Amino acid sequence: MYASDAPPPRPPVNVPELRRLKSAGTPIVAMTAYDAGFAAVLDAEGVDFVLVGDSLGMVVQGEVSTLPVTVDQIVYHCRAVARGLRGALLVADMPFGADATPERAFDAGVRMLKEGNAGMVKIEGAGVKLDAIRFLVEREIPVCAHLGLTPQSVLRLGGYKVQGREAAAAEQLKRDARAVEAAGATALVLECVPSALAESITRELSIPTIGIGAGAGCDGQILVLHDLLGVSGGHRPRFVKNFLADGGSVQGAVRAYAEAVRSRTFPASEHAYA
Ligand code: KIV
Repeated sequence: MYASDAPPPRPPVNVPELRRLKSAGTPIVAMTAYDAGFAAVLDAEGVDFVLVGDSLGMVVQGEVSTLPVTVDQIVYHCRAVARGLRGALLVADMPFGADATPERAFDAGVRMLKEGNAGMVKIEGAGVKLDAIRFLVEREIPVCAHLGLTPQSVLRLGGYKVQGREAAAAEQLKRDARAVEAAGATALVLECVPSALAESITRELSIPTIGIGAGAGCDGQILVLHDLLGVSGGHRPRFVKNFLADGGSVQGAVRAYAEAVRSRTFPASEHAYA
C-alpha cells in the first residue's frame, strides 16, 4: 500500500514506453545523473530517461575527456542512481574501449544490467560498433545508439565540434542512423548536429531520437545534470541552458527543464546549430 497522500508510482519507462512516446508525439525528457540523491529528484520531476553517462569522467572526476572512465565506474554509479529511481529508465553508458568487440560489450552490458540495475546501455558510433549493437540486442540487452559528436572520438576529431555540416557528412550520418536502427537500437542520441539534419533523421526513423545540441525537432532532449545546474565550469557550449538561474532550486530547475522539453520551448534557436 502507498501512503494516502503519495501519488502512485507512474508506469515504468521501458522499451515499449519509449516507442509509445514517439508515436504519441510526446517529447522524451532525458538527463544524466550519477548518484541516488539527484536521481530521486529527476524521477520525482518526471524525467523519463536517466543516463549514467561517461560524462562523469569530466563533470564528476574532473578529467579532460570521457576516455578514462571504466566499466567498474559506470556500474558503481548505476547502482547508486538505480536506488533513487522508481519509474524512469536507467541507461548505462558503454565507456571507451569496452565495446571494442561484441563479446566485450556483451560482458560489460551484462554487468551494467545485473550489478548496476540498468535497463539499457548506450553505445557511441556506427560502423564497427554495429556488430556490438546487434550482438547485445539479440541477447536481450536493449541498446541506445549515439551519433553525431561522439565524445569518445575526441582524439580523431581533435575537439568537440558540430558534426554533419557538410553534405557528405550529413549523408553519412543519415546512413549511420538507418544502420543503428536496423541493428536493433531502441533509441538514438544525436549530439551536436544541425537542427535540419536531426529533424530529417527523426522523421525517417521509427525509433525515438534524443537530441543534445540537435535542435527542437528530435523526439526528446538530454542535458548533462551539471550543465543544467550551471556548475560545469569552463567553456559553456551553445546548447547548454542553466535552468537553476530561473528554477530557484534543484527541483525547480529540473521541473523547468522537463516542462520546457515537453512544451518544446527548449531548445530554442539560440541553443541549436545550423
Ligand atoms: O556521457 C554523457 O553524458 C552523454 C550525453 C551527453 C548524451 O553521452
